[in-house]
Amino acid sequence: MTVCLTTAPRPGDGGRVSDGRTTVAKTNYSLVNKTTGETLELPSVQGTLGPTGLDVGRVYDTLDVFTYDPGFTSTCSCKSAITYIDGDAGVLLYRGYPVQQLAEKSSFIEVCYLILYGELPTKAQLEEFDTTIRKHTMINESLKGFYSGFHYDAHPMAMMTGIVGSLSAFYHDTTNIRDPKHRDIFARRMIAKIPTIAATAYKKYFGQPFMYPQNHLDYCSNLLYMMFAVPAEPYHVDPVAAKALDVLFILHADHEQNASTSTVRLAGSTGCNPYAAIAAGIAALWGPAHGGANEAVLRMLDQIGDAKKVASFLDKVKDKQSGVRLMGFGHRVYKNFDPRATIIREQCHKVLKHLGKENDPQMELALELERVALSDDYFKERKLYPNVDFYSGIIYKALGIPVNMFTPMFAIARTVGWCAHWTEMTADPANRIGRPRQVYTGAPERHYLPIAKRK
Ligand code: CMC
Repeated sequence: MTVCLTTAPRPGDGGRVSDGRTTVAKTNYSLVNKTTGETLELPSVQGTLGPTGLDVGRVYDTLDVFTYDPGFTSTCSCKSAITYIDGDAGVLLYRGYPVQQLAEKSSFIEVCYLILYGELPTKAQLEEFDTTIRKHTMINESLKGFYSGFHYDAHPMAMMTGIVGSLSAFYHDTTNIRDPKHRDIFARRMIAKIPTIAATAYKKYFGQPFMYPQNHLDYCSNLLYMMFAVPAEPYHVDPVAAKALDVLFILHADHEQNASTSTVRLAGSTGCNPYAAIAAGIAALWGPAHGGANEAVLRMLDQIGDAKKVASFLDKVKDKQSGVRLMGFGHRVYKNFDPRATIIREQCHKVLKHLGKENDPQMELALELERVALSDDYFKERKLYPNVDFYSGIIYKALGIPVNMFTPMFAIARTVGWCAHWTEMTADPANRIGRPRQVYTGAPERHYLPIAKRK
């Protein structure tokens, strides 16, 4: 059977409309079974920005075929009003606001409010939100026992996955996902506690005493305090370091339907406990193709070691047999530049200057790697540019954060995005369990053979 996709312009609108920022295709599509002539109209799903979606939900029922899109390169899994990305133009908007403006003018806590509730807060709303987050930073004392159960060298991401998942045991009976108030408590609690959970994993890794949060400190200062303070002496948070972290967190706060957010949505679509869904998101983030890339970039820079070895390293990257990738380069959606990388690069220079590390050899190596890669046809042809993770590790390292805490930093920042997406999905009465189909490639039906008859 051959099925073909046909398009026909809508009468009267010339097929395209422009809202000033993006031209939106307004074309009618249908699928035609060329053998039987059967036609299925595909209703278009129109957003405010970006390409039109084609509703293929009835394809199987009507034409008895599936749509096939491994890696979801052309497939929208949902409608969402949280974040917009135009990968060709390098645009990233949270609730309509360009990330550049937010990074320059806002704070992470204000951005959390914006992402969760859709609007920038008034002064009173921001104060109320900030106060609640500050007042819920402590974790249940018995959770400390969970950390003791981990081996001394457990990766902090493994600990975070376990600890966040275990929150479902603490708040199971009190979380009614159908109640908007409960959903809000969950989101605020998660955002408030995730720095404490990550910092406690850090302390466990180093064998240092856990530090209780200090609620007079702002979000990022508190995180730095919990990581670097020790009970034996006073600790003063460097405001430049806290500000740099705040900007990094803004840039990582959400990124629409990326792998970890889609994981949270898929897990959450079953109606499972939301803390368990966030734990699934943390596990997905850890992979080197996703949030684990910031750790992989630093390991890669260490491995290259010297600017003189950049060319031979890139030769290895271009050799597909080697299995080596240029970590921190490339993105599924950004095919021009990653706007977050541009901001992080500037931040990197600022932080290194402040810390008197302008001639940081790793930064110099990263700049050389970027320069050579961007002038190489392999990367140009494939539209591979530095992504958010290429420079973030250098800032983290300059701030004294060890390499295996880089991805936990990403997880802290992304928690608000995960919570907002889970909330948006759960609040939608049209939400259904996520259940993809497959093209089966296994053995056709066959009959069980008793073991004595098997060859
Ligand atoms: N180094 C070398 N080649 C690459 C790279 C890279 N980093 N990224 C993509 N390619 C090549 C790939 O081999 C393929 O080549 P060909 O067409 O000849 O087969 C082509 O570019 C397209 O790549 P793809 O793997 O089909 O692209 P994708 O959209 O499936 O993967 C990606 C996107 C981010 C997983 C990938 O670019 C990658 O592995 N990058 C390195 C890891 C990384 O930095 N991840 C962080 C992503 S940004 C933070 C986040 O949101 O998590």
